[in-house]
Amino acid sequence: MCLWLATWLGAQEPAGLPVLPLAASALGIEIEFVAAGKLPDGAQQERVIALTSGDPECLTGSRIVQVRYRWPQGRWQPAAAAIVPCALPAAPHAPWSVLLIAGDDGQMAGGVVLDGDGNIAEAWRGFGEQFAGKDLPSFRDAVPRREVESRLAELAAGKDAAARAGQSLVAMRTDMLRQSIHIGAVMEALATGAPVPAAAGRIVEDSFAAMASRAEALAPLFGKTATSYGEQAKAAAALVAAARTARPDATEGKQRLRELRRGCANCHELTGETFQGELAAASAAKRRDLGLGDRPFLLGYDVLLDFSGQPSPASEVPGLLAPTFHRAALLLAALQDR
Ligand code: HEC
Repeated sequence: MCLWLATWLGAQEPAGLPVLPLAASALGIEIEFVAAGKLPDGAQQERVIALTSGDPECLTGSRIVQVRYRWPQGRWQPAAAAIVPCALPAAPHAPWSVLLIAGDDGQMAGGVVLDGDGNIAEAWRGFGEQFAGKDLPSFRDAVPRREVESRLAELAAGKDAAARAGQSLVAMRTDMLRQSIHIGAVMEALATGAPVPAAAGRIVEDSFAAMASRAEALAPLFGKTATSYGEQAKAAAALVAAARTARPDATEGKQRLRELRRGCANCHELTGETFQGELAAASAAKRRDLGLGDRPFLLGYDVLLDFSGQPSPASEVPGLLAPTFHRAALLLAALQDR
């Protein structure tokens, strides 16, 4: 009965369907249509508008589709997709849009950019993929994009120890994000005994080395734990450097992979006297205390463009995609009452 109803509803919602198989193949997941969904209520939509742009039209044409998805060999997850139009100056007639999927568990499965013809915009594939596996932002604790931007600028301009600690916290977040885009390729190589891809390995190593170099500046926030944090970052950089240059075979690679994973956990789970809980969660709380909200989808801060380590292409597109994905994420977060 349910299945029949879903199929029938699907027939009523033809525009939602062609997009889903395209998104599925771009993201490497399976997606099934379940039903047409509802946008959050008017007040919540107004809040999304205020948080992202203030332009009252920015959600016009947006919609929600109930779906389910699964990773290869994974379990089906109930989920929703938000489709939000994006006004690109280069495409005035048929607006582009973004589609973002998040499971009911609050984790994003990734996003895609659709051009005016409803095809995947291949050039921005990596852009949408970077959200896969990350939690949706909090809707309740969200801070308007503009406020986060000015807070970041204030922090960047500050000269005292408190400002330097804040700057290092911000840089740490961006470094973790940068390594997280490339660590998969490193780990896969170690698991199979293949050579670690040079560019990916270098970016991960550099990210950890940069974190190590700023550890001392974090002492005002993390007390003595800042020293352990620096040691962990240095150890992680050394592990990746060794894996990059030594070309371990599959057996040794697996051993190094275990060490690397342990290294990730050791640092994330650090505790301290100046903060509650574990380091990774505590740093998120410290960012909120600094007025930076949860996950504001700002380019160069928690959204990245330089996936390959190459200089960013000169384009205004990512600057428009980031707030559009932010809108999509906040719509989904509002529906989950996060
Ligand atoms: C030197 C300490 C340290 C090491 C080593 C480390 N992390 Fe992290 N990581 C952190 C901290 C701190 C955060 C939280 C940053 C924040 O939210 O401000 C974090 C956050 C993250 C995030 C969340 C990013 C986001 O946008 O939500 C991911 C994913 C992650 N780490 C993966 C890894 C993996 C995989 C490894 C091992 C290869 C690793 N980390 C090693 C300290 C570390």
